[in-house]
Amino acid sequence: MTAPRPFYLTTPIYYVNARPHLGHAYTTIIADAMCRYRRLAGDTVHFLTGTDEHGDKIAQAAAEAGVSPQAYADAISAVFRETWRRLGISNDDFIRTTEPRHERVVQEILRTLHDRGEIYFGAYGGLYCFGCERFYTEKEAVDGTCPQHLTPLQFLEEENYFFKMSKYQDWLIRYIEERPALIRPERYRNEVLGFLRDPLQDLSISRPKTRLTWGIPLPFDDRFVTYVWFDALINYVSALGGPGAAAYETLWPHARHLIGKDILKPHGVYWPCMLKAAGLPVYAGLVVHGYWNLGGGKMSKSIGNVVEAFELVDKYGHDAFRYFLMREMTFGLDANFSEEALVGRLNSDLANDLGNLVSRATTMIANFADGAVPERGDPGPESAVVRETLARTRRDVDEAMREFAFQRALVAIWEFIAIVNGYVDAVQPWALARDPGRRARLHGALYTLAESLRCLAVLLDAFLPEAATKIRRGLGLEPQGLAALEWGGLAPGTKVAKAPALFPRIEAGKAAGSAPARPEPAVGEKPARPRVPIDDFARIELRVALVLAAEAVAKSKRLLKLSVDLGEGAPRTIVAGIAEHYAPAELVGKKVVVVANLEPARLMGVESDGMLLAGSTDGKLALLSLDRDLPPGARVK
Ligand code: MSP
Repeated sequence: MTAPRPFYLTTPIYYVNARPHLGHAYTTIIADAMCRYRRLAGDTVHFLTGTDEHGDKIAQAAAEAGVSPQAYADAISAVFRETWRRLGISNDDFIRTTEPRHERVVQEILRTLHDRGEIYFGAYGGLYCFGCERFYTEKEAVDGTCPQHLTPLQFLEEENYFFKMSKYQDWLIRYIEERPALIRPERYRNEVLGFLRDPLQDLSISRPKTRLTWGIPLPFDDRFVTYVWFDALINYVSALGGPGAAAYETLWPHARHLIGKDILKPHGVYWPCMLKAAGLPVYAGLVVHGYWNLGGGKMSKSIGNVVEAFELVDKYGHDAFRYFLMREMTFGLDANFSEEALVGRLNSDLANDLGNLVSRATTMIANFADGAVPERGDPGPESAVVRETLARTRRDVDEAMREFAFQRALVAIWEFIAIVNGYVDAVQPWALARDPGRRARLHGALYTLAESLRCLAVLLDAFLPEAATKIRRGLGLEPQGLAALEWGGLAPGTKVAKAPALFPRIEAGKAAGSAPARPEPAVGEKPARPRVPIDDFARIELRVALVLAAEAVAKSKRLLKLSVDLGEGAPRTIVAGIAEHYAPAELVGKKVVVVANLEPARLMGVESDGMLLAGSTDGKLALLSLDRDLPPGARVK
């Protein structure tokens, strides 16, 4: 036995100015699949994700919502954490850049760099993008606009602290050239070397508090806070307790960062220079994926449909969504997302190829072998190809996973599925069952099928954990690692349950409909969204309210202050974030539905006693109203 290898994988830490969307989900899901795979391989895995909470963007979003940046970050960070929990993401840690464990390490590293003379104070003027929170050179700008956001860059001049990044240019070029596997796939390694063909500038690492207070104070000058990228990159070491901590010592030498191509420069250029200057080793690998496009255009958080695309996870199920994302994108390149393509894959690869195999195999074992794995019998010459393909698939999956080539790994697994389906067609167990003289052949065929299912459960575990669990439970087995992919591991006599349909087919025309196609969870499994008992719902008091008056809340773009009649004698004040969707005058006289027993909250200095109900999607918002008249105060349930 070889000793377990440490494997430390990180995702970017996501900004908390937007809800999780398809892009975030993709990176996190593939990181999850990789970590699950490495665990199955016997490695000691540490999987980190988290949220990036400082900087202009967050401060602005919080101001617009009328809450403090900390409260805002708390709320959205919790949404990310909960989303990953619901998707079954197996991260070992979740770091927030507002946590003291992070702030401490950022300040320690800043102090080290300052003490080593790596930081100086100076003035800088340049073209700045508030969206990216960075300066752009004239060459990078596209007609004076930001190449990422396509918004005009603003000339900004201020005094700041600078990190002497330029002096690391030659070192970094050599470092990357000597390590062909450091940045993968190759195209991104070339891109980083491309950035480094132009002179590398020093990096402004502070922001004056006169402009931005929402950040980590510089330990050597508290008139400044740390530039958000400088702060954020350090999460990868602060989450391990920082230099010197036990987790850092074991895991940091094995660190791999998984990122989207949009943040290649900070990870490929700034971060290695920062580490080198601080006397810390560079990460072991930077792995870069392409972008999902919707309808041909580039997606961004400002487009609601990336959020909507992500909502399909509830409609089609976690495994189908995971499968599509991993199978459809050639790792490193961009890909197109569409619901039709997802349904196509679900029907052909999941319902047909995999789902049918599992239900055919378990049904035949139930019908022809009394629901138990028969003796190994005589599997016939056709079975050789099944065993050979398994061995090849195992090798191919392993090779693909070394390069994060999820699509290749899945193609290899589906080759095995196709071979096993072909085996069923070739040996026709139903015909063997009619002939008592061919019992050994029948048993051999059924054993081959049951053993194929066991191996499939192992092969699929990292990619489709729910389906793999169902297959494995159908065979009454505990989870098994990749080492169990040796033919013949299944003991004759093992009870086999007829499998429920793993992936029901989606009929044409249903794809865009609202009927949930999510398969029912198998007995003993928790549904993905916890149901609430009716008593919990009854605790929420919903009532009809008549809007008596409405006005804007000073200094807020989003909030309106309403005076509403709930049939209680005196009107109540409710503050609602609907100013971008309704003019005050439109609301007066309207009957709406409110939550009447919420704890009061202060929003932009106004106390709000209740909450309006509204639906929203894709930037649209609609208040709930009644389709027949009811008096103010009437209960809604
Ligand atoms: N906070 C920074 C990262 C700091 S890491 C030290 C940030 N956050 S982000 O919320 O904007 O997330 C960017 C990442 O989300 C991308 O690198 C990628 O992993 C993922 N994606 C966002 N949109 C995406 C697509 N359209 N397609 C694929 N992944 C994308 O940048």
